[in-house]
Amino acid sequence: MTAQPAIAVRDLIYRYDPELPALEGVDLEIENNAYLGVIGQNGSGKTTLVKHFNGLLKPTEGRVQVFGMDTRQASVGQMAHSVGYVFQNPDHQIFCATTREEIAFGPRNLGMNDAEVQERVEDALDAFELGPYADVPPAVLGYGLRRKVSIAAVYAMRPQILILDEPTAGLDRRSADELMRRVDAMHAEGHTIVLVSHDMQLVATHCREIVVMDEGRILAQGPPEAVFQEHEALARASLAPPPVTALAQRLGDLGMPGDVLTIEAFCRALGRLREARP
Ligand SMILES: Nc1ncnc2c1ncn2[C@@H]1O[C@H](COP(=O)(O)OP(=O)(O)O)[C@@H](O)[C@H]1O
Ligand SMILES: [Mg+2]
Repeated sequence: MTAQPAIAVRDLIYRYDPELPALEGVDLEIENNAYLGVIGQNGSGKTTLVKHFNGLLKPTEGRVQVFGMDTRQASVGQMAHSVGYVFQNPDHQIFCATTREEIAFGPRNLGMNDAEVQERVEDALDAFELGPYADVPPAVLGYGLRRKVSIAAVYAMRPQILILDEPTAGLDRRSADELMRRVDAMHAEGHTIVLVSHDMQLVATHCREIVVMDEGRILAQGPPEAVFQEHEALARASLAPPPVTALAQRLGDLGMPGDVLTIEAFCRALGRLREARP
């Protein structure tokens, strides 16, 4: 018996407009505790796809199941128990009078008692260094801080499936690193992570599997080591491997492996090449 996938997508077609399908037939299984990266150029359908995972969008045709439950049969409230979605645009998510309230909203909605809610709020404020802004209306904060509030509000719910749509856009390097440290920790604790990003290095470093979207379809899928060697598919999707991977691939005739994803891995491979030199 195979374990039930976290998310199962079958023949998914979605049209915002009857003439223009945004998703043109997507099949995808995301196993529990996956760490999936979704990449593709603007307009390729990434956001439309992941909005199906928490029932914000329902299939025009086909089917999406979350832990076996058809999203068409579930309310957004029911879905919130297992799926957390951080919007690409934080202003589509933020609506409370204070940062503290914004973060408390989700845990309270999940039915936690006051003490539990309080604990989650303090933890999230601390995790995202939002303490100084706890009693400020999030709407007046700068973009990077609004983004952090939107992430903290979902993080506070610790959803079994966490979907992040371009979470590091607008964050400085330190905040982005801290965010990814938290996301990696949630993955290590058994959560399923879906990360939509333009940042190839980020996806290569953190994700275990990648889906390449192009014109509403999945063009390539697999571990980053393999996907970033699929040059034809990447070119069709107007994508390129992370710079260090591209460099390693250019050095292939010197014996550098083409599946290097990080500077650390590049240096290790270089060390091995040096040792092997006569
Ligand atoms: N609310 C909407 N109404 C109509 N068309 C939309 C809407 N949102 C997205 N689209 C269209 O659907 C396609 C996929 O968009 P989207 O899923 O946002 O792509 P991505 O997240 O990869 O940039 C694009 O052609 C886009 O213009
Ligand atoms: Mg998008």
